[in-house]
Amino acid sequence: MKLLEGKVALITGAGRGLGREEALLMAEHGCNLVINDLGVDRDAQEGDTKIADQVVEEIKRMGGKAIANYDSVSDFNKAKAMIDQAIGEFGKLDIIVNNAGVLRDGMIFKMSEADWDLVIDVHLKGTFNLCRHASVYFRELGKAGKLESKGRIINTSSNSGLGGNIGQSNYGAAKAGIAAFSLIIAQELKKYCTVNTVVPSAATRMTLGGAPQLAMLFQSKNKSGVDIFNPKYFTPLIVYLASDQAEKISGETFYLCGDECEIYHGWTVANSIHNNGQPFTVELLSSRFKELIEGVKTKFPFDKIYGKMLKR
Ligand SMILES: NC(=O)c1ccc[n+]([C@@H]2O[C@H](COP(=O)([O-])OP(=O)(O)OC[C@H]3O[C@@H](n4cnc5c(N)ncnc54)[C@H](O)[C@@H]3O)[C@@H](O)[C@H]2O)c1
Repeated sequence: MKLLEGKVALITGAGRGLGREEALLMAEHGCNLVINDLGVDRDAQEGDTKIADQVVEEIKRMGGKAIANYDSVSDFNKAKAMIDQAIGEFGKLDIIVNNAGVLRDGMIFKMSEADWDLVIDVHLKGTFNLCRHASVYFRELGKAGKLESKGRIINTSSNSGLGGNIGQSNYGAAKAGIAAFSLIIAQELKKYCTVNTVVPSAATRMTLGGAPQLAMLFQSKNKSGVDIFNPKYFTPLIVYLASDQAEKISGETFYLCGDECEIYHGWTVANSIHNNGQPFTVELLSSRFKELIEGVKTKFPFDKIYGKMLKR
């Protein structure tokens, strides 16, 4: 069953890693694609130029249709040009997957302003740029009664932001920002498109190029002998959310890794204490704070990847 026959999608950062796998599965499902990738190394110090071409060639060999784009998602005007390129080539745009990413890890006391700015620029501003221009396009079509089916925006977050990972305050802030941003624009755009956030855990250069312990974990197989962190296992989530079947799903955050798919709800009330209609005092708080903290049952997303998944 092909879920994306005749649809047109733009995927950012699709020259390698998760974006490439997403593009290949979307193409298999009949989707026409704009493959964007700036072609930079893991920390964006240097570029390998036109890696998007390789994915375009792969898709063409499969019998699909794809074109390349080599610009940065951080550039507001070039982000608009990407969307125009998709519409110019294929006559329309149905789906945006914001996936491009870089890392500049470091503890806060060592983080330079440039490392902060670059990561926020690529992830958070890049996601804003594409969503901003796509929202105008979807809204205009909707107002003119020309929207065949609602548009799709899929934004990529990370457990690093939603759970909090040491050494990634810039990346985590951007990724948590993307989840919050998506929640808000899902409500603003509900007549015209769905907006969802996805959270991967996959063996790509982003994880394999990090701490040796993490790299080893991401190359592990589970008890059933499956390399569950293979990025190709993440991609069914993207195809499903992009499909007509998911038209009513919006404003949600989904995690998928290997044999596990989860829905996240963030910043929920984890426990509370009350003071019978009277305001709290410092003395009261200091006597009851232990009760508030010890009653918390929430488990943070980051706990999961270390252990239990490999045991199945
Ligand atoms: N791999 C994981 O476990 C994991 C976990 C959580 C979130 N993510 C997120 O998934 C997405 C894909 O990551 P990946 O692991 O495949 O990494 P990756 O490094 O393999 O791929 C990222 C791609 O983005 C491109 N890129 C970087 N800056 C760009 C820019 N300004 N404009 C356009 N393209 C640009 C790079 O050239 C690269 O090809 C990222 O947003 C990442 O933060 C990954």
